Parts: sequence; structure tokens; C-alpha cells
Amino acid sequence: MQHLIISAHPNQNSFSNALAEALAAESLNHKINPIRRNLYDIDFNPILTNEDLGQIKEGRIPEDIYREQTLIKEADIISFIYPLWWGSFPAILKGYFDRVLTNGFAFKISSNGPEGLLKGKKVVLHTSMGNSVEEYEKKGILDAFRQIHGDEVFGFCGIEIAGHYFYPRISDSSPEIKKQYIEKALQNYNSIFSRMHQISV
Ligand SMILES: Cc1cc2nc3c(=O)[nH]c(=O)nc-3n(C[C@H](O)[C@H](O)[C@H](O)COP(=O)(O)O)c2cc1C
Repeated sequence: MQHLIISAHPNQNSFSNALAEALAAESLNHKINPIRRNLYDIDFNPILTNEDLGQIKEGRIPEDIYREQTLIKEADIISFIYPLWWGSFPAILKGYFDRVLTNGFAFKISSNGPEGLLKGKKVVLHTSMGNSVEEYEKKGILDAFRQIHGDEVFGFCGIEIAGHYFYPRISDSSPEIKKQYIEKALQNYNSIFSRMHQISV
């Protein structure tokens, strides 16, 4: 089984990349093969151009998009790890969704409406933030993050959202607190990984 782990943070020493590394090691402990991808390390081009749109419409998928789609196709579970930037994904990750989750690959539109084409896969989202969870709950937008970052992207593609975890006040958290968050994050995968093993036997 394959676990595609995608992070979107330019700093190797960030909480996001530390979590991604720990998750890769934990996957191996569960006999699940991790594929690590930091979109900055691979210099992912996030700009969806008119040329891309034309080629995709004709069924000719640009090589860099095809590479990412192949990794998604081969993955049983995908984890996205990113900081909250202006209430949203970092632009490089948003551009990854724009370019990689194409019509015909991730979904199709027929006379019955849209249909997700990536059924059977799971996704787990990890969002680190500068604010506290309470502040966003008070504003009533934590559920909006779940909806917009989760359902509107992955639900639309037919992917099961197995978890969406928020890590508050990361910017001023101590190394001990960050370590605790990472340990808790790994624990959350225990039941997901065992369910995956049960289904595969
Ligand atoms: C461009 C930018 C925009 C940000 N916007 C938000 C925001 O909207 N809400 C928030 O809580 N934190 C925001 N932050 C703080 C980051 O989410 C926080 O620094 C990050 O999650 C820390 O985790 P890391 O160690 O993985 O970078 C922003 C930071 C940057 C650099």
C-alpha cells in the first residue's frame, strides 16, 4: 500500500515538514510505503495556463501534471500538510489542485452532474495555523475551512476525508508542544492504517 505525503512549506525546519517526515517513518512502521513530496522541493509549477487547459481538454496531459496524477492513482491514502495562509492553502498547493485534479482524471461532468473519479482513496488534512482554534470557532469559520479545504476539493473528487486536524498557534509553540502535536497526529493514523490493512486482506 502507498501513502502519498504532500507538504507545502518552503522551510525544511517547519512544523509542517517535521510532521511530514515523522508521518513517512510511521507509515513504514505500519508496512505502508511512503512517498514524500514537498511541493517546494520539487519546484512544482502552480500556474494553470490557457495552454494547459487546451491540452487537458484534448486529453493530452502535460508531463509534470501526469507525474503527479500517477502518484495519486497509485496511492491508497494521501496526506496534505500545510500552513494556513490567509485563511487558505499556500498558493503552491492551491495551484497543485488547480493543475493536477483535472476534469477527466479527478472528476467528470455528465448529464447527471459531477461525479468524483477517485473513489476508494482516503485523504487526511493537516493545517497548522498562527491563530487558536477557539478564535476561528468564535468567528464561525472553522467548519468553513473543513468544508472548503476538504469537501469542496476532495469530496468533489470522490475521496473519503479520513481526518482534518488543525494545529493552533504553531508560530509561538515550544518544541515540546510541537512534538506532542506530532505524536498525537501519528496516533490518529493507527485506526486509519489498521482499517486499510483489514480491507486489503
Ligand atoms: C503569508 C502568511 C499568511 C498567514 N495567514 C494566516 C492565517 O490566515 N491564519 C492563521 O491562523 N495563521 C496564518 N499565518 C501563520 C501560519 O499559519 C503559521 O505561521 C504556520 O502555520 C506555522 O507553521 P509552520 O511551522 O509549519 O510554518 C500566516 C503566515 C504567513 C507566512
